[in-house]
Amino acid sequence: MYTLRDAINNRYSTKAFDPDKKISDSDIELLKQVLRLSPSSTNVQPWHFVIASTEAGKNRVAKSTQENYKFNEAKVLNASHVIVFAAKQNIDDAHLDKVLAKESVDGRFEKGSEIEAQMNNGRRYFVGLNQTSDEAIKAWTGKQVYLNLGQFLLSTALLGIDSVPIEGFDAEILGKELGLTAQGFDPLALVALGYKDENDFNAKLPKSRLAIEEIITDL
Ligand SMILES: Cc1cc2nc3c(=O)[nH]c(=O)nc-3n(C[C@H](O)[C@H](O)[C@H](O)COP(=O)(O)O)c2cc1C
Repeated sequence: MYTLRDAINNRYSTKAFDPDKKISDSDIELLKQVLRLSPSSTNVQPWHFVIASTEAGKNRVAKSTQENYKFNEAKVLNASHVIVFAAKQNIDDAHLDKVLAKESVDGRFEKGSEIEAQMNNGRRYFVGLNQTSDEAIKAWTGKQVYLNLGQFLLSTALLGIDSVPIEGFDAEILGKELGLTAQGFDPLALVALGYKDENDFNAKLPKSRLAIEEIITDL
């Protein structure tokens, strides 16, 4: 386990993975819980994740890293695991009912109680605010998925696992290949995970960020 300070300094976008190094099952189980336990607005959880760890699975994901995205293909193929982060295209009653029922089963309130009604109304209110158009609801669900992605990247670093987030892939191809589009999800990003190749040029470069004084205002 690394400290938070180690993790934020050591995490970097891995450009070359060692194909022989695999993430342990116990770390993958923990990372699945990271995906599951991420916060989201009103606990709406508008996401689905596909995890490719076999050669066949990674080859399917790599169908979306061809042509313009060829620069990302080796990252997908040589990583130990690749996670596809997908966002719901829409929030329907069935999803809202499912979330509410699970909160009740998990013991957050009694079924049929006043608190249940408040939770239901509150979530539906926020969904309604953001469901003004197809594009608006996708922007909102996408924000929730990216929040999950950020927490996920930090978590991998705390476990000493190398990673790279990837937006450079063909979402239309991947959505069809994995059946996500047909199930009402858009793939937004990938995260390739594993352990860096010792020759990864990016591991040796210093971090570059704008200065604290430029990005933060203290009041
Ligand atoms: C949403 C997102 C998408 C990214 N897409 C790619 C990508 O397709 N390929 C790649 O090599 N790096 C990608 N990156 C990595 C960024 O270039 C990198 O995070 C940034 O330059 C900061 O460097 P660091 O992560 O090494 O600290 C992406 C990063 C983010 C957050």
